[in-house]
Amino acid sequence: MSVTTIENHNKSSLTSAQRVESLIIKMQLHEKIGQMSQFSGHNGHLTDHLVENIRAGNVGSVLNEVKLETVNELQRIAIEESRLGIPLLIGRDVIHGFKTIFPIPLGQAATWSEECVREAAHISAIEAASSGVNWTFAPMIDITRDPRWGRIAESLGEDPFLCSQLGASMITGFQGESLDNNYSIASCAKHFAGYGASESGRDYNTVNLSEHDLRNVFMPPFKMAVKAGAATFMSAFSDLNGVPATGNQWLMKTVLREEWNFQGFVVSDWDSIHQLSVHGFTENDCEAAYEACHAGIDMEMVSTTYLDNLPNLLEHERVDIEQINDSVRKILTLKFELGLFDSVYVDSNDYPPLVNQKHRDVAKLVATKSCVLLKNENDCLPIDQHKVKSIAVLGPLADDGYEQLGTWIFDGEEQHSVTCLSALRESLNKDVEVEFIKTLETSRSVEQDQFDAAVKLAQRSELVIMVLGEESILSGEAHCRTQINLPGAQENLINEISKTGKPIILVILAGRPLTLGAIINKVDAILYAWHPGTMGGPAVADILLGKVAPSGKLPVTFPRHVGQVPIYYAQKHSGKPASNETYLHMNDIPTRAAQTSLGMTSAHLDTHFSPLFPFGYGLTYGKVEYRDICVDKQTIAVDEKVCISATVTNTGAYKIEEVTQLYIRDLVANVTRPIKELKGFKRIILAPDESKKIRFELHTDQLAFYDRKMNLRTEPGRFHVWIGGSSDTKLFTEFDIN
Ligand code: GLC
Repeated sequence: MSVTTIENHNKSSLTSAQRVESLIIKMQLHEKIGQMSQFSGHNGHLTDHLVENIRAGNVGSVLNEVKLETVNELQRIAIEESRLGIPLLIGRDVIHGFKTIFPIPLGQAATWSEECVREAAHISAIEAASSGVNWTFAPMIDITRDPRWGRIAESLGEDPFLCSQLGASMITGFQGESLDNNYSIASCAKHFAGYGASESGRDYNTVNLSEHDLRNVFMPPFKMAVKAGAATFMSAFSDLNGVPATGNQWLMKTVLREEWNFQGFVVSDWDSIHQLSVHGFTENDCEAAYEACHAGIDMEMVSTTYLDNLPNLLEHERVDIEQINDSVRKILTLKFELGLFDSVYVDSNDYPPLVNQKHRDVAKLVATKSCVLLKNENDCLPIDQHKVKSIAVLGPLADDGYEQLGTWIFDGEEQHSVTCLSALRESLNKDVEVEFIKTLETSRSVEQDQFDAAVKLAQRSELVIMVLGEESILSGEAHCRTQINLPGAQENLINEISKTGKPIILVILAGRPLTLGAIINKVDAILYAWHPGTMGGPAVADILLGKVAPSGKLPVTFPRHVGQVPIYYAQKHSGKPASNETYLHMNDIPTRAAQTSLGMTSAHLDTHFSPLFPFGYGLTYGKVEYRDICVDKQTIAVDEKVCISATVTNTGAYKIEEVTQLYIRDLVANVTRPIKELKGFKRIILAPDESKKIRFELHTDQLAFYDRKMNLRTEPGRFHVWIGGSSDTKLFTEFDIN
């Protein structure tokens, strides 16, 4: 019979902290280490191994168990059959949806909408909580500037400011107003830190980052996550500057605890404590447990180095009981905050149905706002369905409800998906003839046996819609690519169809920026839908048919060629910047050109130095004009604010939404600063011919950076400031801090 001491704690008489302390006093060592150990579930099965360890008090959390009956039984065993009856944290990767799937995080980032991201996370939390999940391993807020890296799909893009704002919104969406609300689940800011800079875009590879880059670029989203109240952090797999994150005291103690005062707990990544020995950072699991414990990793995901070695390390006084108590304290505190000691069993009747219409509507809205219009030659979009009479739909991703969901889908199901083809057929007037040929079996297929049929269909149609891109498995964890163009024979297919002379609208579903240089001049329009999730089809169809204008903006730079990577808008100026005046392409170099005759600037001979599409870029239906930028004060002092305003006009015939963006440049500083830095964005609605004055307020704190001595400071000096609809905006003015 378990000693149900918890029930003796009258909630009204004790605070959570007191309840935690009163529990720790009663705990035996193995029960404390048990709280620090996360076991994997077994797809609904109650294995003896898991049940016996829960009964013995060796398990603080279970991940990857989402069968509600099983979760409730696991909780019952923990509460009624273990000595102290401590409930379990139930973890799951709810990255961009549970059963209703939203666009991949990179697509959600393309909405530049904190509201969209927050609402998507909130719905994801409700659906996950209805299955007994009370902890998600999200948001993933690794900055990355390398589209070869498969996990760019899971990221919120290349920019610290955008990622910080949207990451905080995701945390708020998951955690709600209070963690003990039935609809709230704990978040987990991951992967701390620097994982997105894995060398050569190869997952799990070495990361070498200066403290300058860590503090000014890669860490700000995590610092913001602490402010946003992230309940937990997750350590990265990576070896960071020679010290793997999971054993890195500078990261986990000096920065996260001492500087940022993070009060939650840190969970390792899957097996990443054991992997400290695989890295060659430690000799064996015992030393790995030692290093991780001293680094402040509070909970071990799946490997058992803590269970196996902490007693011994304690006995030999290499680890102190207070370190263990401190980890247990943080873990129990979260369990109390989640209300698990007061009501842990989940009744699905307390939750709305999965994939209900409201959830679908939000998923469609987010998908709609995530689509980025990259090209629209001669305004061939939107399609006028009162004029067009026959449309050919081609491509392996036009009618595949599974692939449109994207990576990190543990619980999504394709039968809930609405594909592009079915949505087009549903939306188009019935007198418009729509014929579909998949043409390629998968995005990687090279067989061209259906090409003739596709060409013939295109020839007898007025318009061609091609839905191409990447299958979901080609991005995500461990799915990196050295060539990031359209895989398989998709480029060949575009070439063949373009020979028919018919207008081609290309819809791309992908988990990363792809290099489109080989086909960009072969198509008339390109709509980038990322992997748009359950309701991706209706979102794409509404945009193509003009029911809504596209409004997404790129959260990541699109390179012309993979050889440009890493390429991002917030580049440093360098001492010899490239310019159009001096740039000379390799094909234009005179024979026997003298060594110093080519401009000697920072550029590649064979590829122009600009990106194919810049960060923040995205077209809409009609043109948006920016003018009359001005500041309310030419000079401000440190600690003051400056207001920057401009007028935005929708000169087109459609109602649009425009993501207006504010960028600054610190012209001269204690360390070199980027040529542009995003410092504000606002999504505004503009009716046809409507103008609005937009205002951004900037406090000097927002201009701070870490200097040579790693002090966070705002320096006096001149600043350029831009407002526009993309990072390549030219509309700028300047102000001084004195
Ligand atoms: C993985 C990932 C991490 C995920 C964890 C649990 O390997 O790196 O992001 O949350 O394992 O699935």
